[in-house]
Amino acid sequence: LGQAVQPALSRIPSGIGALADYARQARHHIEAHAWAHIESGCDQAQALAHNRQALDRIRLLPEPLPDLSQAHTHLQLLGQAFDWPVLLAPVAYHRLAHPEGEIASVRAAMAMRTGMVVSTLSSYTLEEIAQAANAASQELGRTAPLWFQLYSQPDRQHTLSLVRRAEAAGYQALVWTVDANIKRSGYPLPPGVEAVNLRGMPQPQQTGDLMDDHILFGTPLATGAPRWSDLEWLRTHTHLPLIVKGILSPRAARQAAALGADAIVVSNHGGRVLDAAVSPIDVLADVRQAVGPQLPLLLDSGIRQGTDVLKALALGANAVLIGRPQLHSLAVAGTLGTAHMLYLLRSELELAMAQTGCAQLRQIGADLLWQPR
Ligand code: FNR
Repeated sequence: LGQAVQPALSRIPSGIGALADYARQARHHIEAHAWAHIESGCDQAQALAHNRQALDRIRLLPEPLPDLSQAHTHLQLLGQAFDWPVLLAPVAYHRLAHPEGEIASVRAAMAMRTGMVVSTLSSYTLEEIAQAANAASQELGRTAPLWFQLYSQPDRQHTLSLVRRAEAAGYQALVWTVDANIKRSGYPLPPGVEAVNLRGMPQPQQTGDLMDDHILFGTPLATGAPRWSDLEWLRTHTHLPLIVKGILSPRAARQAAALGADAIVVSNHGGRVLDAAVSPIDVLADVRQAVGPQLPLLLDSGIRQGTDVLKALALGANAVLIGRPQLHSLAVAGTLGTAHMLYLLRSELELAMAQTGCAQLRQIGADLLWQPR
């Protein structure tokens, strides 16, 4: 607190060679309350810590002398071409990190041919972000998939209006987040940052009365919370691919697939929802087994380096998403920072693939993983 916040740089500072370096520097560029909000896990932050531990525990078996003459990282997902298997996760309020917010992020995503999922709680409108993506694509001659993350609203007509707006703006898939609906944000937004997509609708719940805050059952938050029938309803109301985000249990994954989900994001929301929750990487193989080989699976929560991406793919994911690192790089150096952050991650992934003998993503399998006897 009281620490001076430095404005974002227009160059990449020296000493940045990995995502962790952006995380370290970002704290000097983000206001202290916003920083705490972004970095925090829920409660004792055990899930947050465990996400990293679970990934770090996995060791890889290097494979020398691979043929890399045809090496690439391309993949097809839901009928769309991806240059590499990483997307920017839906993260609320990018303006907490940089005044250009999601506009800067989406330009970096297009420049680095990286898919981006725009949050319902974005701090520029979903239309403004889509327009910036189009402009950047035309300017750069590069493009990447753009998806919209949907939070169900208390009134279905409001949910539907978000869906229609996303369709009209050209978003190519909907990511329906199911793990954070009964959570209140305790973070009062600073002036100039708001949920602009939700103007005219009830705003996300802030922490209110202390007594109220700890009681859920019987409140509108509980009685009005979305359920499985909302997925069926959503399925009949859009032709866009529907991805369900925030699943950890094999049973829930099967249920989502049965009700028409086109893909699943295995996620514990970056350790922000249930502190005792298992880490996605620990359950990924079970979820893969539950849904079979065809259903696309994405994973997030704790991905910070190229080998993390490799580990997730080896355990059954088709692609991964990154959350907090996008705000770190954005805060340090805006569009340039996020583009550079993605460049670093991609370089690390390619190096990790080369060192484990994988010239293409489909070669990344469980045989890369070393298990203690
Ligand atoms: C999130 N996340 C999130 N998810 C979502 O579906 N809609 C949202 O608006 C947000 N907002 C949000 C804000 C902040 C500050 C964080 C840190 C996270 C969760 C996000 O999509 C993703 O699941 C996690 O961030 C992944 O974990 P890592 O990469 O941050 O460890």
